Amino acid sequence: MVFRLILFIILSLNLISCSSNKGKVGTELSDSEERISADIHGSTFIDTMDKKLRIVYDERFPVGSSVYYEIVKNEIRSSFIADQYSSVTPENEMKPMYIHPEEGVFDWAKADSIVAFAQKNDMKVRGHCLIWHWRMPEWFWVEDEKQVSEVVLLSRMKEHITTVMTHFKGKVYCWDVVNEAISMGVEGTSYSFSNKFYEILGERYIEEAFIIAHNVDPSVKLFYNDNFNENGKKEKIFKLLKDLKSKGIPIDGIGIQGHFGINSFTEESLKKDIALFKSIGLEVQFTEVDISAFEREEKKYIVQKDFVFSSEIEEKQADQYEILFRVSREDPAVTGITMWGGADWPNFLNKYLGEKAYPYLFDEKRNPKKAFFAVTDF
Ligand code: GLA
Repeated sequence: MVFRLILFIILSLNLISCSSNKGKVGTELSDSEERISADIHGSTFIDTMDKKLRIVYDERFPVGSSVYYEIVKNEIRSSFIADQYSSVTPENEMKPMYIHPEEGVFDWAKADSIVAFAQKNDMKVRGHCLIWHWRMPEWFWVEDEKQVSEVVLLSRMKEHITTVMTHFKGKVYCWDVVNEAISMGVEGTSYSFSNKFYEILGERYIEEAFIIAHNVDPSVKLFYNDNFNENGKKEKIFKLLKDLKSKGIPIDGIGIQGHFGINSFTEESLKKDIALFKSIGLEVQFTEVDISAFEREEKKYIVQKDFVFSSEIEEKQADQYEILFRVSREDPAVTGITMWGGADWPNFLNKYLGEKAYPYLFDEKRNPKKAFFAVTDF
């Protein structure tokens, strides 16, 4: 009897310690933990939640989420995304180095899965991105073991843009044709360019990209996508886009990425930014939004160690989201907002900052945060 009692105590202690260790492994919830939290929250919250971003904003503009292949393959996360959002942007799967890894070789599988997921759930797709000096496959720059010539680089650009856009014709409603061309570290070029496209082709690489894209499909909206994370960058981008417009280059809009800190904008500054680009006839989309719980000074986030996402910070973040969505709703120049993550589940920002940044509208178990109510109760 005593022996049995001792055995029972040992076994129970063992079980307790196992289960408490389990919860501490990593930040990514395992599939079974996801399922458990989905059951708990699904029956009491998410499934009965009548408010959905995609319905609230239906008349106004698509509200999107970035996704990656593993997300669309995850039943719980993908059905949550489809339930709430009306558009998706593949985070990486359409970037040149992944979709065009070798000359003449295109790897469509993951991007196709994302597009199929969007179509099945009546969601739009933002194409991201055709030309970016970062995330290019190495072969693109090399010809006969030397730096590629102007002529060949231009023809590679043409082949890349044409093949990718043709493959997704009718399935992608807008493209980020050129991503992040402006680099503030550089003086001596008209717009501060610093990348291999610029080195080889000069400033015309941007115009060429837009002309090629327009010729492939004149019905698709074409965007220049960038951030304003350095002083003076917005002005350089404006100068560039104004010049492109005045030359008649087919560009429809600016994508403002929107990797914001909690202090990055005010209502006035946001309205001014939108008005600036609207003044040259461009649509504005916020294409990669996260409002981190940390402050941001230009490129640098002010990360606090062992940070606690207090209810005051959550409130402050909700106020920022309220401004972003209200100002966007009220200005017809704004034609879309895409969140760079569906919820505060593991994301690139946490990884980059080494601390949880709590940047999205839902928490990591997909429960709505104050920010969600701030953008849907109006
Ligand atoms: C840029 C790119 C995105 C993504 C983010 C996050 O904003 O446009 O595709 O890579 O950086 O790092």
